[in-house]
Amino acid sequence: MSILILGANGFIGSHLSEALLATTNASVIAVDLAQHNLDACMTHPRFQFFQKNMLTCKKDITDYIKRSDVVLPLVAIANPSAYVNNPLGVFELDFEANLDIVRQCVEFKKRIIFPSTSEVYGMCPDAAFDEDVSSLVTGPIQKERWIYSASKQLLDRVIYAYGKRQELDYTLFRPFNWYGPRLDNIFNPKPGASRVLTQFIGNILRGENIMLVDGGAQQRCFTHISDGISALVKIIENKNNAASQAIFNIGNPIANSSIRVLAEQLIALIATYPAYAALANRAQLVDVDANTYYGPGYQDVQLRVPSIQKIRAALDWHPLVGMEEGLRQTLDFYLK
Ligand code: UGA
Repeated sequence: MSILILGANGFIGSHLSEALLATTNASVIAVDLAQHNLDACMTHPRFQFFQKNMLTCKKDITDYIKRSDVVLPLVAIANPSAYVNNPLGVFELDFEANLDIVRQCVEFKKRIIFPSTSEVYGMCPDAAFDEDVSSLVTGPIQKERWIYSASKQLLDRVIYAYGKRQELDYTLFRPFNWYGPRLDNIFNPKPGASRVLTQFIGNILRGENIMLVDGGAQQRCFTHISDGISALVKIIENKNNAASQAIFNIGNPIANSSIRVLAEQLIALIATYPAYAALANRAQLVDVDANTYYGPGYQDVQLRVPSIQKIRAALDWHPLVGMEEGLRQTLDFYLK
């Protein structure tokens, strides 16, 4: 089986490439602008890397799609501060560029495994989000944060419609706050430049205050990348077609933490690394209102818990890595 990963150098793409080479017989066609996260793959005989921009090298991308059996289009902006500061950029890349890939998968009859997002549920009031039942709840247009959620939701609907017409074999997967090594660059000092975990690690290491948006009571289920990847490998293997024409949440409902508790846990864990203990002990938690931190286009999600009954039943998957173990493993990567 030949698997095309667009955005292979990214957080999910690089971990997935490594796992596919290590645990399956698949060949990987990897495309990205850079290759610094792919050192472990570059010399593997089943790995081919092409340094291409999918927006400008369209003919090459079409050629790779034709040569593959399964396509994973992982190129996207996935950072809330970008949703409010560069909404059209999010639409152009996350929606328009990916719509083109979806259509080519229809044209060339390729299976697509597409990253939807936990963000599509938005402010859904359900205690646990169900892929096939929960409502998708976003805010008014002026709250530009939702352009990412809306772009992904519309692509989900387009893919579903092609699938229903039996023109596309698809799986939509919804990551819930995946984290781990290579998540974001912790050396980017701009507030909101990375997702919360890497933002906080960077804050502590630079001796800055940790900013808790609206007090940090909002909760997320933090899912270790190794659990996310084991689910994706099962989706790619697709035993008995159990992953075809399906939407799956991929998250860890037990690893539910408020942002404040995450900050406290990180400070305590970083304090156990002798070289960084002094910095951790100096770290201060400071409340900031969302308007000041992100601007008026932001609106937050208070509770985001996935139901994982569906993927458990279809693919016999469940997460294995608890929060403390996952955070420690991530800190080992960034601090050692
Ligand atoms: C994320 C991103 O949209 C995507 O990475 C992804 O699609 C999705 O969720 C997911 O991984 O499931 P969100 O969880 O809101 O959205 O993003 P973070 O930037 O990680 O923020 C988490 C929470 O921490 C938010 O409530 C935010 O306000 C808060 N935060 C963030 C702070 O309190 N302080 C900070 O310095 C940064």
